[in-house]
Amino acid sequence: MRVLLTGGAGYIGAHTAIALVEAGHEVLIADDMSGTSPEAVRRIERLTGGAVPTLAADLRDESALREFVREHAPVHAVVHLAGLKAVGESMAEPVRYYDVNLGTTITLLKVMASEGIRTLVFSSSATVYGTPDELPLTEQSPTGIDLANPYGKTKRIIEEILSDAAAADPELRAVSLRYFNPVGAHPSGLIGEDPHGIPNNLMPFVSRVAIGSLPSVSVFGDDYDTPDGTGLRDYIHVTDLAAGHVAALEQAEPGYDVFNLGTGEPVSVLELIAAFERASGREIPRQIAPRRPGDVAASYADPSKAGEKLGWRTTLTIEEACRDYWNWQSNNPKGYAGA
Ligand code: WQD
Repeated sequence: MRVLLTGGAGYIGAHTAIALVEAGHEVLIADDMSGTSPEAVRRIERLTGGAVPTLAADLRDESALREFVREHAPVHAVVHLAGLKAVGESMAEPVRYYDVNLGTTITLLKVMASEGIRTLVFSSSATVYGTPDELPLTEQSPTGIDLANPYGKTKRIIEEILSDAAAADPELRAVSLRYFNPVGAHPSGLIGEDPHGIPNNLMPFVSRVAIGSLPSVSVFGDDYDTPDGTGLRDYIHVTDLAAGHVAALEQAEPGYDVFNLGTGEPVSVLELIAAFERASGREIPRQIAPRRPGDVAASYADPSKAGEKLGWRTTLTIEEACRDYWNWQSNNPKGYAGA
């Protein structure tokens, strides 16, 4: 298939681009480059050995997007990952989050309709569950419980839009993938996560401490009702996550469906720090700090639906994720900017 990959120069997008090409698909990237660098596309091209046509534009620009799709017709499917993704920022700038995340998706759906594209895979998030009332989380678990941040709400609203669009068009195949916590990097060390400024998420923060650009990591709470008192999450290697997109795309059926993409294995903050110390051979200074507002004690997936319906399962462990993240970090201490 020829696949339009929005957000294809980002962290998950770059890994998905490689996985799609390795599975025999052709990839076109559309990305405004706001959260990444054109260097990511050059590295995708290096790893896949071919040119990847790229539109560097705001995807709310309907005519630019339509022109790009027409130029590369026929486009058979879309994998839609473009969007803003920082929870804290979304609370400070809610209108921008609704504008970008919803505006991009609506524009894309209009272009898909006018150009006859009927398959869409969307990057949703386990955040849509809000505060879990049962664990592990299944796709039937209620969504939106105490969901306080606009970022998560945009994911939930987009899921509703896709469900409605599929109900109205019997030929539309739409799939939402609810990611748990993506970590790791491409084993080549050429592609990885490149957060601007001080990272919000745990593994990028720990990795910056290991490389020496941050002094220590704060453990946000050690008094949760969990085995070691720190938060439990389901950390999924980004190359496993990328493979989930290929499986969802190839097996999308008419209608709307949703899948959890996680390992099903809860890992605590202290366990992740210890795994990163082993992978990097560096000591990671840490101190216990107050709980971070909005955090839940535990969130992990029941990934069995994706196993049964898509034949997809994770293959990589937290140890391998730390090894690959560290390989990327140590080869690219300044991320893509150092290239
Ligand atoms: C993981 C654990 C923290 C940083 C968020 C979004 C989600 C997705 C991924 C997407 C928690 C603890 C963290 C630190 C710490 N976003 N922690 N010290 O909050 O599960 O998920 O990011 O695009 O939608 O909600 O991920 O990596 O921030 O935190 O102790 O410096 O690490 O309290 O227990 P989270 P995270």
